[in-house]
Amino acid sequence: CFILLASLNKISLVNRPAGAGTAGVLSLCVGSEDRTPKKRFSEVQNERREQAQRTVLIHCPDKINEKKFLKFLSQHGPINSHFFYESFGLYAAVEFCQKESVTSLQNITRTPSLGPEAAIPFKSRYLNLKLRNSLNQTSELSSIQCSNQSSPSSKKLYQLLCCAESVDDQLNTLLREFQLTEENTRLRYLTCSLIEDVAAAYFPDCAVRPFGSSVNSFGKLGCDLDMFLDLDEIGKFTAQKTSGNFLMEFQVKNVPSERVATQKILSVIGECLDQFGPGCVGVQRILNARCPLVRFSHQASGFQCDLTTNNRIALKSSELLYMYGALDSRVRALVFSVRCWARAHSLTSSIPGAWITNFSLTMMVIFFLQRRSPPILPTLDYLKTLADAEDKCIIEGHNCTFVGDLNRIKPSRNTETLELLLKEFFEYFGNFAFNKNSINIRQGREQNKPESSPLHIQNPFETSLNVSKNVSQSQLQKFVDLARESAWILHQEGKDRPSPSSNQPWGLAALLLPSVANNMSLSKKKKKPASERIKNLLDSIKSSGAENSTATNGR
Ligand code: CTP
Ligand code: MG
Repeated sequence: CFILLASLNKISLVNRPAGAGTAGVLSLCVGSEDRTPKKRFSEVQNERREQAQRTVLIHCPDKINEKKFLKFLSQHGPINSHFFYESFGLYAAVEFCQKESVTSLQNITRTPSLGPEAAIPFKSRYLNLKLRNSLNQTSELSSIQCSNQSSPSSKKLYQLLCCAESVDDQLNTLLREFQLTEENTRLRYLTCSLIEDVAAAYFPDCAVRPFGSSVNSFGKLGCDLDMFLDLDEIGKFTAQKTSGNFLMEFQVKNVPSERVATQKILSVIGECLDQFGPGCVGVQRILNARCPLVRFSHQASGFQCDLTTNNRIALKSSELLYMYGALDSRVRALVFSVRCWARAHSLTSSIPGAWITNFSLTMMVIFFLQRRSPPILPTLDYLKTLADAEDKCIIEGHNCTFVGDLNRIKPSRNTETLELLLKEFFEYFGNFAFNKNSINIRQGREQNKPESSPLHIQNPFETSLNVSKNVSQSQLQKFVDLARESAWILHQEGKDRPSPSSNQPWGLAALLLPSVANNMSLSKKKKKPASERIKNLLDSIKSSGAENSTATNGR
């Protein structure tokens, strides 16, 4: 009773606005437990990639009989898992146990006839399910249970935070509500895998790998999907050792530089995605950027995607952040709260500009945790000393070596609460000598700034680069002012917390409330004095009550 149609890029004979129907990027699913990852990064990447290759994405009618649907699909082989979600319609991601099942399914899938439109034939794993004799089946159809797909509304979040038992509980609640769910993570790998199928038409042995917040364990629901086209596997084949007196080389086209090669490859893949990529809309080729990229929306998953190539170092920094996130359960909770705090006060933005980025904020939290006594996180140099031969990694002349086995790193002896750490984070950066010091997670201590950018955070692997070069003095000042105010609010809170029945926002909820931002804009008129006054008040509280500084065990 089902018909499967290949999802194709349709060429309409009627004029349609470019990118129609793509408005809004979907926020997917909400998690319910802290799933701090423990496996080696490369293991997770390989497992997820292989899983994605056995998975198909199916656009379904709004109502469907789930049991019959699965029975229909299992004619092609056993199904390992599946889930439904909504994104401009109902979708199912179905993971078969074997790759062959996907081919078998593709073999019975037809190319649609589109009436006035014409189809570009392309056999992808993104399919369309239609009901045959839909009238006869109506009585058997039922609504499908979709995995929860949206992050909580602000109202719901404040309610959850206000009902929490302590500030620590609030931070963990926020993490639980915003972290990527299992389904969302699968969808990210699946989207990369579908893009890989398109790129493989040109480069059969390529891989499209996700990096950035989709895989570094700091991704918030709704974050973009960074992916890179990895052509190294193709290079490897030419590097295989041969015996005898002869050496065989491929005839290739030469271009003036690595950058030009990257631009040419991305230009072609961008064109491919635009013209033939099912579900890829709004394709922009941004080839003159420092790191050339192709940006597009993947309609079916709802992800805003940035595709780059030749970006192994960024994958390595994703691995490093993943390691840090997995080392101590406080790390992710703190990073999520700082990221949400920065978003709530418009310190970060989805539009590129002079704003601080989530990546920079994460580096700041890591650095702060390296500076605690005893440290909560080890320095990158220390992680390098634990590396073995297998971990050795040099990329474009940069030493990116550090230990990959999490079990070789001893847990921290530091027992500070999240409440204390959040408050101290704001105080630390509210008083940081940004004018002369650089943040450096490789050594875990401040260094003299090598250049005059307002904010200097050394790239952990390309050490001559500043990851926050884009940040303006005024944006940095806004960060400092808000950090001081937030430290002040948490200090006051600790002394005078409203009772749960009063329904007053407290702790983290008070920091995230728009009213805090409003207070800030009020204080903006006399910004500097207010900020200085808070700093002085905090200093005097600290010096008079140092012994109280650890008495912050929640409500
Ligand atoms: N990156 C970098 N240097 C920068 C910016 C980015 O090395 N100046 C790398 C980092 O590995 C980062 C990745 O590129 O994780 C993706 O960048 P971006 O999307 O800006 O950051 P995310 O960490 O993915 O955070 P977000 O959730 O805001 O997308
Ligand atoms: Mg990103």
